[in-house]
Amino acid sequence: MALVNEHFLKLPNNYLFSDIAKKVNAFKVSHPQKDLIRLGIGDVTQPLPQASIEAMHKAVDELASKETFRGYGPEQGYDFLIDAILKNDYASRGVHLESGEIFVSDGAKSDTGNIGDILRHDNSIGVTDPIYPVYIDSNVMCGRAGVLENGRWSNVVYLPCLSENNFIPAIPDRRIDILYLCYPNNPTGTVISKAELKKWVNYALENDTLILYDAAYEAYIQDPDIPHSIYEIKGAKKVAIEFRSFSKTAGFTGVRCGYTVVPKELTAATLEGKRIPLNRLWNRRQCTKFNGTSYITQRGAEAIYSPEGKEQIKATIHYYMTNARIMKEGLESTGLKVFGGENAPYLWVKAPRGISSWKFFEQMLYEANVVGTPGVGFGPSGEGYIRLTAFGERADCEKAMKRIRRWIL
Ligand code: MLT
Repeated sequence: MALVNEHFLKLPNNYLFSDIAKKVNAFKVSHPQKDLIRLGIGDVTQPLPQASIEAMHKAVDELASKETFRGYGPEQGYDFLIDAILKNDYASRGVHLESGEIFVSDGAKSDTGNIGDILRHDNSIGVTDPIYPVYIDSNVMCGRAGVLENGRWSNVVYLPCLSENNFIPAIPDRRIDILYLCYPNNPTGTVISKAELKKWVNYALENDTLILYDAAYEAYIQDPDIPHSIYEIKGAKKVAIEFRSFSKTAGFTGVRCGYTVVPKELTAATLEGKRIPLNRLWNRRQCTKFNGTSYITQRGAEAIYSPEGKEQIKATIHYYMTNARIMKEGLESTGLKVFGGENAPYLWVKAPRGISSWKFFEQMLYEANVVGTPGVGFGPSGEGYIRLTAFGERADCEKAMKRIRRWIL
């Protein structure tokens, strides 16, 4: 008899965004004539940069001829992409990494979910709360999160990020083995200063904590003083793995490409106290379970680092950040309290009159026909908030603000 992994049975029935899609579909069925504006899941709406399109067409043609055809690529990614990453994303910011430290993948969702494979099931974990649900759900799947009690997992330390603490988590008074940080933050759209991030790196150095740093939204940072990478902080290579994504940077949500940085000097301990480089383990894991990102995709990703590609992604990011500004101003003009949206494509909106996240979500859906994501879906500290994305079409964002205004006022 095959036995199931019973930890899966502890999970809520649906992944957050699937749950919302179900509710939205139910609304569509009962209100077929209504025109819905979707600002829920953070999916992009603008096409890929032209530079990537051209590079991918060229790559397809290469695969059509015997001389230039390619089969399996390196599991870690092609050098042409890794070199472009090292030069543009790191060296340009004074961060020196080597090629064996970059692992190209099909995106940050898979990597943040899979990284747990190389870590023992009984490590303690800490998360900023609210948080991207993949971090928690993937730990539940392997039994590391414990059991769900009153909306909280028993083996997870929650670090509340609330308006009261300016969405900056307080350093815990106990040690944590593995800590997830995501900046710019999904879902609150807030950022962390260098000084605050330094406190976390120092905490990790002092406590032998592994930081899993998700920087998927770094391209949206507008403030020149905000760090783009945790490795801008001294000592971070000893304690942190960083995740990056081309999804939001260059519209690759459907194409799928990202990368993970595992510095060679980063180690974790065996039960006997022997130090093991995590780079070696992640490489072993990837070579076993992953055959690399497609050549076509990697050529498309490489092209965003060309002069034209850089200009094109800058223009698209500007488009989304203009949406964010229009939305923030529109929401604030109704008296709503809004956070984020200045260095990230997410707006974190406090529900009016103290209503719950799900009530806010439903009222917005049924009365304004606008879809958001209930904050509590991202964790207990998200209760009383809703998240809106700035990834929509400009006209939709403007229309949504008018509808919300009419509904709220
Ligand atoms: C989100 O809406 O939070 C994102 O689309 C999720 C993701 O990138 O997987």
